[in-house]
Amino acid sequence: MFHSKISGLGFYVPDNVVTNDDLSKIMDTNDEWIQERTGIQERRHIVRGQDTTTTMGVKASKIAIERSGISYDAIDFIVFATISPDYYFPGPGVALQKELGLNTVGALDIRNQCSGFVYALSVADQFIKTGMYKNILVVASEVQSLGLDMTDRGRGVSVIFGDGAGAAMLSRSDDDSAILSTHLHSEGEHAKELAVLAPGMGGRWVTDILADKNPDDESYFPYMNGQFVFKHAVVRFSEVINEGLQANNLLVSDIDMLIPHQANLRISQFIQKKFGLKDDQVFNNIQKYGNTTAASIPIALTEAWEQGKIKKGDTVVLAAFGSGFTWASAIIKW
Ligand code: ACO
Repeated sequence: MFHSKISGLGFYVPDNVVTNDDLSKIMDTNDEWIQERTGIQERRHIVRGQDTTTTMGVKASKIAIERSGISYDAIDFIVFATISPDYYFPGPGVALQKELGLNTVGALDIRNQCSGFVYALSVADQFIKTGMYKNILVVASEVQSLGLDMTDRGRGVSVIFGDGAGAAMLSRSDDDSAILSTHLHSEGEHAKELAVLAPGMGGRWVTDILADKNPDDESYFPYMNGQFVFKHAVVRFSEVINEGLQANNLLVSDIDMLIPHQANLRISQFIQKKFGLKDDQVFNNIQKYGNTTAASIPIALTEAWEQGKIKKGDTVVLAAFGSGFTWASAIIKW
């Protein structure tokens, strides 16, 4: 059986910085509340007309492709994770294929919210393990800002999210570097604790939905039961990290770098404390970018790698938890 490794990484965030003080000018919030509850100092929001989920994915991908040294012709497949696609359908995978000028390779869109990148990586890894493909572009990109309720009503959720994209080239490995294992879970029972309910059909005719269209319809905005999410996230993060370690006979002390989904700094700190990890074993950048949903892990992974915090031979753990609920981990020998 073959195995896969990450051969290139890239990320892109829009230039437009939105600080907590900026938000306090448009809704009833303040820097102290946001930093104390989430650790977030600022996030990036796209400028409309300049970026979309697809264009950000393309920008991150170009960097990852260049760093991988893989030629565009050698890319066999695309896996694109997002919950904020430019269109209801088709998904952004095909748009990325066109924009990068790739051959008529397959393009698969993954939902799975904040766990989307780890799910996407796992899917790509299986294709490489079977020998079907050699090089797969795994992309996650999110424009959250356009979907948020930027009024007082939405303040509990809107201050958390940001826009950005990350990409990884996954290639057949010719040395010890490998995705050792991936672990995927879901629990649909809690779907509505963190969700955007519209514009799903929900069993209705589209004509009825349009007739009922109400500008105050909150179902188009994200709903989050914050404390419920927090309690489940810390349990599932821990479980799925332990599951990955056990599957590979690894100990917590073997972890060189944990990249948690950047949901909330308090969740990351809780996990760090629970596992007794040192500051240099956990990478967080939510302070600068907010929670970018599926894109948060590849953005953080790329930044950690760019800063020299991940070296050849390291054991890197990716762990995610998100709406669905879904949660996932990947254990990587770099
Ligand atoms: N600014 C100021 N005050 C606010 C804001 C805001 N942005 N939002 C809510 N408040 C107020 C509330 O109205 C409430 O006021 P009240 O006491 O007068 O009623 C008070 O602050 C406390 O509100 P809570 O919702 O109880 O705040 P909590 O302490 O639970 O913190 C938070 C909210 C940060 C979301 C927390 O629940 C949390 O960390 N949840 C984890 C979920 C998470 O991280 N989600 C990230 C996205 S999901 C994911 O990626 C998996």
